[in-house]
Amino acid sequence: MSADSVKFILAIESSCDETAAAVIDRDLNVRSSVVASQYELHRDFGGVVPEIASRAHVRRILPVIDGALKDAGLTLSDIGAIAVATQPGLVGSLLVGLTAAKTLALVLDVPLIAVNHIEAHIYACRMAAGRDIFPAIGFVVSGGHTNLYDCTSPVDFELIGSTIDDAAGEAFDKVAQILDVGFPGGPAIQRVAEQGDPKAIRFPRTFLKEDRLEFSFSGLKTAVLYTATGVPGSHEKPLPLTEKRVADIAASFQAAVVDVLVAKCRQALEQRGRKVLCVGGGVAANALLRDRLEKMTRRYGAELHIAPMALCTDNAAMAAIAWESFCRGHFAELDLDVTPGLVRHRKQ
Ligand code: KG4
Ligand code: ZN
Repeated sequence: MSADSVKFILAIESSCDETAAAVIDRDLNVRSSVVASQYELHRDFGGVVPEIASRAHVRRILPVIDGALKDAGLTLSDIGAIAVATQPGLVGSLLVGLTAAKTLALVLDVPLIAVNHIEAHIYACRMAAGRDIFPAIGFVVSGGHTNLYDCTSPVDFELIGSTIDDAAGEAFDKVAQILDVGFPGGPAIQRVAEQGDPKAIRFPRTFLKEDRLEFSFSGLKTAVLYTATGVPGSHEKPLPLTEKRVADIAASFQAAVVDVLVAKCRQALEQRGRKVLCVGGGVAANALLRDRLEKMTRRYGAELHIAPMALCTDNAAMAAIAWESFCRGHFAELDLDVTPGLVRHRKQ
């Protein structure tokens, strides 16, 4: 197949706990997108168990790829390139997707394209916009990441801020566990918070007033724990965890997280002189965060792009960013490896 005649990329995503495949055409239309969630496998543990995730990927990867091809009404012979998320993520999970992708690329004799999962989250905003939106500040806020990027172009992403401990979504999940309101924590906290007073408890907002583009949520998590269950060694008993008290803690926690997330987005826009903000990742589903980001960008005079729900949470369709590499002839060799950690600056 000559490069010009390539019409479809098959994308594979297995960086964390979703096994996903998608077919995307050259105009970034998503022909199919299949996501097999492992939610029920990890629910009882209150978080993703890496070994369980890898095993589930092994079982699901081929049916998911098959499903994506069938939904697109295509066969493997229609596929002109294979894209795969190789970073960042859980090493065992990433390896399953990469092995499937390499095998397909080898057997079909088509190019292999490495995708950075975080950059793909940001690119989801470009897909939804239907036009070029770069340069922009990209913000990925999920269960594994709270990362700010200065995106000069769709192939030049500089990491300018991240969390020094927990990710924002992880904090939501842990607080939901403390308050026993359900898993995954984000939607549960949001629901419970609707009945609560966000000003009931003044939780810490780490780095809020500082220029640094860093996040920290572990102090907040501990503050929630102590508020709910009492300070260890203290004679003071915590207030009983009535429905109202739980709602107040959830609302106050959510307000603290959102205050920090919005403030850091604004600082990133200011520091880099950007006028476009792209937000992706599971926490971007949070209604309060969306509302506050809309208000902040309106006041600041910036354009806001938040990926639609289906593209916000983990999926393979956002690996459409691989077309940017394809068009520039940036292909990977078959000795491509996974990179579980974050890369600070990537320019193709
Ligand atoms: O992007 P994602 O599906 O998976 C990765 O972590 O990569 O994000 C999942 C995270 C979970 O921590 C979940 O609690 C959080 O996104 N989340 C939310 C909401 N919906 C999902 N956090 C706050 N509010 C929500 N409505
Ligand atoms: Zn993700």
